[in-house]
This record gives sequence, C-alpha cells and structure tokens, in this order.
Amino acid sequence: MTRIAIVTDIHHGAPSHTKRGDTALELVAQFVAWSNAQKPDLVLDLGDRISDIDSQTDARLEREVADLFAGLDAPLYSICGNHDRDHLSVEDNVEILGADLKSEVIDLGQWQLALWRADTRINRVAPNIGFNLPEADLLWLSQMAQRAEKPTLVASHVPFSGHSQIGNYYFQRNQGLSTYPQAERARAALAQAQVPVACIAGHVHWNTVTTVDGIPHMTQQSLTESFTTCGEPAKAWGMMTLGNKVHWEVFGDDPFEARVTPARMRWTPPLAPLLERLAAE
Ligand SMILES: [Fe+2]
Repeated sequence: MTRIAIVTDIHHGAPSHTKRGDTALELVAQFVAWSNAQKPDLVLDLGDRISDIDSQTDARLEREVADLFAGLDAPLYSICGNHDRDHLSVEDNVEILGADLKSEVIDLGQWQLALWRADTRINRVAPNIGFNLPEADLLWLSQMAQRAEKPTLVASHVPFSGHSQIGNYYFQRNQGLSTYPQAERARAALAQAQVPVACIAGHVHWNTVTTVDGIPHMTQQSLTESFTTCGEPAKAWGMMTLGNKVHWEVFGDDPFEARVTPARMRWTPPLAPLLERLAAE
C-alpha cells in the first residue's frame, strides 16, 4: 500500500473574496507537522501555492511556501496551478522549488503515479479566454494511458471529469474556467488505459468524486478556502491510500471521505439512441 499526503490550492498571499490566504503559511506549517507525524510515502502539492500579484511578489510568496515545504520528511511532488503561472514561468517555479516540473510517471510498487503537469496558464485576452491544453500535454496523457501496466493515479491541477459546478462560488457561472476546453479529449485519452485508473485534482476548491468511463475523478478542497466554512479557512488536507481499493480522506473543517474501487475493464462503445434504433427496425 502507498500512502500519499495531499495539499492543494494553498493560495498564500493577501486574502481575496473567500480565500483566506493570510492564514496559508500557518496552515502549511501545520500540514508539514501533520505529514511528518503521519509518515506518508510521498506528499503531493496540486498547485496554486499562491494568489498572484506580480512577478516579484509572486516569487517571494512561492519561496515562503517552498521554505516551509523544505521541512517535509517525505519526498514532495509539486504541480503548478494557474496562479503559479500568472506572472511566473514553469522555469521560475522549478528554480524556487528546486524540483523538476515536467510530466512524469513515478513507480509506487503496486500502483504508479502519473504527474500530469499540463499547462495551467489562463489566457486573459479575448477571444480565447481560459485554459488551453497544448497538444503535447494531451499526447503525454494518451501515451501514458496506452503504456500503463499497473493501476495508475493521475494527478493534475485542473480537473477534467466535466463535473457539475452548480453551487460552486467560483465556477457555477464560469464553467469554462473550471476545466480545459479539451477535457473531453483528455477523458478519451485516459479511457484507453487497460488498468484501473483514478484521478485527483485541485483548482475547483471543493471535495468531489465523479465517475466517468469507470474512472473515479476526485477533487480536493483548498487549504485556505472559506466558501464552505463560513469565512474561516477550510484547513483541508488529505491522505490517499492506494491498495486493492483507493481510500481518500480529507481532514479539517470541510471533511470528506471516499472509498472507490476503480475497474480495469473499460466500457463497450455505447448503444445508439433508442429512437434511432427503432427507426431503423
Ligand atoms: Fe487553480
């Protein structure tokens, strides 16, 4: 079994709307202490470590988070979120974190971890406002799925299940910013896998499980989000255990727990609509 401690959407920086970024460093310090006591096999940071201002401020904020992460006993794997990319390049983040930030597969024994570090920059200029998934990132996911020989956890900042955003403070009325416009192709790429697959992402600041193509897609609450916790930070961090089943528990003030059994078998291509079939008879 592999145990993974997960933190996401730390949003260190000034508080804005419902993000309690002013509490981020204190909560990251608490997460590091908890993780060191729990002794997971690895730690996963799913991105949006800061709330962006400008390149100089953002670099300082990222460094302050990285300095606390340096206290982790377990190996840390980070992914960049959109806020880590508003004013900083991937290379800036590599230098600050002292770690590579290319997509990669980590062998965990029974499972493998696919760190899908697809581009997360949000274009703010019309007409193509939002995320744009580079073809190279889609191909990486597709080839990873085709090659996978053991159960695979796919980690990304941006979720791509296409799950409902009804009730989400940020995304109910900004559905297009909750995922990639190419999410359907990403799901099709993953559906090629002949092994059990599960996905974990951040970005949408709430705890969810959505099954698509027999693949459970999970999203974890932000460490400092307050839209579900009456203005107080959620203090959310998770522990995922990968074995014959996947067990995921989110702690803090917006707790969540799920036990899922991803299937190896993929679905048969779907039936034509009933009306079409009746018309053909
Ligand atoms: Fe994000």
